[in-house]
Amino acid sequence: MTESDRIAANVRKPTADIERTIAIGTQTMVVGPYAQRLRLRPGQEARPNARDPAARLVEAVGLAAAITLTVRAERLIVLDRPTPATYLGSGKVEELKQQIEELEIGLVIMDAALSPVQQRNLERAWQCKVIDRTGLILEIFGRRARTREGRLQVELAHLGYQKSRLVRSWTHLERQRGGFGFLGGPGETQIEADRRIILDRMVRLQRELDGVKRTRGLHREGRRRTPYPIIALVGYTNAGKSTLFNRLTSAEVMAEDLLFATLDPTARVVRLPHGAPIILSDTVGFISDLPTTLVAAFRATLEDVIEADIVLHIRDVSHEDTEAQAQDVTAIMRDLGIDPDQPDKVIEVWNKIDQLSPEAREQAMNRAENATTLLKPIAVSALTGEGTESLLALIEAKLSADRGLYQLVLTPQDGAILAWIYREGEVLERRDEDNGEISLQVRLPLEKEGLLLRRVPHAQKLSSNKPKITIEPTSWQP
Ligand code: GTP
Repeated sequence: MTESDRIAANVRKPTADIERTIAIGTQTMVVGPYAQRLRLRPGQEARPNARDPAARLVEAVGLAAAITLTVRAERLIVLDRPTPATYLGSGKVEELKQQIEELEIGLVIMDAALSPVQQRNLERAWQCKVIDRTGLILEIFGRRARTREGRLQVELAHLGYQKSRLVRSWTHLERQRGGFGFLGGPGETQIEADRRIILDRMVRLQRELDGVKRTRGLHREGRRRTPYPIIALVGYTNAGKSTLFNRLTSAEVMAEDLLFATLDPTARVVRLPHGAPIILSDTVGFISDLPTTLVAAFRATLEDVIEADIVLHIRDVSHEDTEAQAQDVTAIMRDLGIDPDQPDKVIEVWNKIDQLSPEAREQAMNRAENATTLLKPIAVSALTGEGTESLLALIEAKLSADRGLYQLVLTPQDGAILAWIYREGEVLERRDEDNGEISLQVRLPLEKEGLLLRRVPHAQKLSSNKPKITIEPTSWQP
């Protein structure tokens, strides 16, 4: 096989392998080419990536491992600025080429946004497949999607990405064949055919997706009609959302030490300490530099977050990049129209405190305790369960902040009042006595208090309508 045939075989497969482009166990090299001046183009707001380059590379390697690639080598390269042709300078390209050959690498992941030209040139130079961060995230999303809607959305995003890169396959092939005319010829037919196949498939997928969305919309409508508040978990990938979700719901949701264990929202009913039901909704793991096309595609799956009464922002405080991760998550929350600084809407949950050293743990606990902002965080370990009771109590307190707690007794003739209470509030406790009386503990919106007292004058407002919030001090002090 000549070099050009080999490259042609490598790159000219736009439709055959759309969903699974990379085989499990592929010998992989992960390159972190972190450019210092990437975001400093004129007129563009400078938002330097706050992450430490080494930590970024560790994360990229983790992402590669999450889709069971065999990472044989990792290279951290700090650049001044990327070059237009190959992103890396020619010396580096050459240096990596040797290592790629020696280790028989089949795939290079460049943890950056490559232009189609850069990707093509690197594939040509290294004689192996090259994907960038978007390609990698698409690959991960594709493998981790658990619901039909998630799978369809990923495939659609993947096709869009491939369509945008079709042109380069052709220009590339054309050059390989000696650079004959730009129009006409078998190559053009091929690319047009590929494009048509992709477009047809995108139209079909979109139609299917619309159907699935309609069904989901109906489900959500149904859920909205229930009086239960919705509590959504968000957080950086691997922060421990699924583990916390399992802990709180005791449900069997997949939790693995793999990134992106969660791709689609999963909702379950949980009871708060005083018995009131809530809907807890687990969501997709957020990630830095999430391609904007994907943010749009996943907006639909994040509808529960947008509509949630309370958003739990789960943070892995044992991770060295926890601050940068938190910033990425709050940026995405803003994109979704949620104000992360809204104290009655967002609770920051500091997870994995079991992994902190005694000193770091005490420091974290002190910071949480003494936080001056209204967004007082709560420290937990989803793994050991420490602090999770307090978390539920805090959720309850936030939800009941504008609700009163009442104790009352109804007679068998009060059927209409009982129905009204069930409609307007939450019945936390109900005891049916032998004489037909019903003792109730109920929570009602404060504006209904007047109506309640008119209907049931003896109803007693309990002073302790907010549960006491405590963080078990003995469990974290060194
Ligand atoms: P994505 O689905 O990728 O967004 O991840 P996630 O946020 O749902 O994380 P997941 O619950 O899958 O947890 C990731 C890893 O962290 C797993 O190995 C968990 O066992 C571990 N983990 C979660 N919570 C804790 C914790 O409190 N302490 C410790 N030590 N490990 C935890």
